[in-house]
Amino acid sequence: MKFTERFIEDKELVERALGNLFRGCPPHADLYDAMNYSLLAGGKRIRPVLTLECCRLCGGTDTAALSLACAVEMIHTYSLIHDDLPCMDNDELRRGKPTCHMAYGEATAVLAGDGLLTAAFETALGAGAYLPAERVAAALAVLAEAAGPAGMVGGQALDMAGEGRALTLADVEELQKLKTGALISAAAELGVIAGGGGETERAAVRTYAQKLGLAFQIRDDMLDVEGDQDSLGKPIGSDVSSEKTTFVTLKGLEECARLVERLTDEAIDALSGFEEPWFLEELARVLVGRTN
Ligand code: IPE
Ligand code: IPE
Ligand code: MG
Ligand code: MG
Ligand code: MG
Repeated sequence: MKFTERFIEDKELVERALGNLFRGCPPHADLYDAMNYSLLAGGKRIRPVLTLECCRLCGGTDTAALSLACAVEMIHTYSLIHDDLPCMDNDELRRGKPTCHMAYGEATAVLAGDGLLTAAFETALGAGAYLPAERVAAALAVLAEAAGPAGMVGGQALDMAGEGRALTLADVEELQKLKTGALISAAAELGVIAGGGGETERAAVRTYAQKLGLAFQIRDDMLDVEGDQDSLGKPIGSDVSSEKTTFVTLKGLEECARLVERLTDEAIDALSGFEEPWFLEELARVLVGRTN
């Protein structure tokens, strides 16, 4: 099967599962509507696809990985809802639609984010139907660390504290490692745990995902400058108006493009110990030139 077909198949599997999560839930004002609005608004689904594919890479089944894949996407979606709030990046468009707070108001958007974060851990526990308890516990530990203050939330705090200040390259690298890299790396590692891989596989996939995550954020910073709002589905120029120091402000677009290429090669190298890494290799290559 070709890369694109397989990617679409993975994405559809994840989207069906996400669509079933809150079906038939009581209304609670707009809460579930707002959660579903953001969760089902599209998005590339890179993180849950990584979870599924890293599980397969280690010989595991999709059923073992799917709850964990959904949990990662729920946490990612919550991070986007909060990232767009007026008190953070103050953006009005996400995934091609008005941001959650524009559609439902700020209080509901904050709660929708809280709801998705909390429900993500409940969803992840669903993996217990297919995996032994100690593997579910290991997965939850990876997910919690990556999402929390030592991971994504910590990175967002550094990102906000850096607004209007001149950061060094080391500052920006540290910030991205946490705000973007941690969850991408966890997504991949959860797949290995679900697939029954050992420490060697976990370490290899972590290296792949960390390189990929860094390339991904550099590309995101580039698209904020040279992208097109219609294909991106979010506003361009947001980093400039928030006075953020990014890879682009520090390195310029051309150097960033070279960095993305180099990191992608390094990510692919990290997979050399696996028998069939072609999908993850192709994924890394496709992301180099992404326009959304
Ligand atoms: C956007 O992530 C935020 C970053 C970490 C750069 P994605 O580019 O994966 O957003 P979606 O999920 O496709 O909307
Ligand atoms: C956000 O980074 C990363 C998150 C943890 C949400 P950005 O603020 O650059 O993401 P976009 O550009 O709004 O998607
Ligand atoms: Mg931000
Ligand atoms: Mg933002
Ligand atoms: Mg950005």
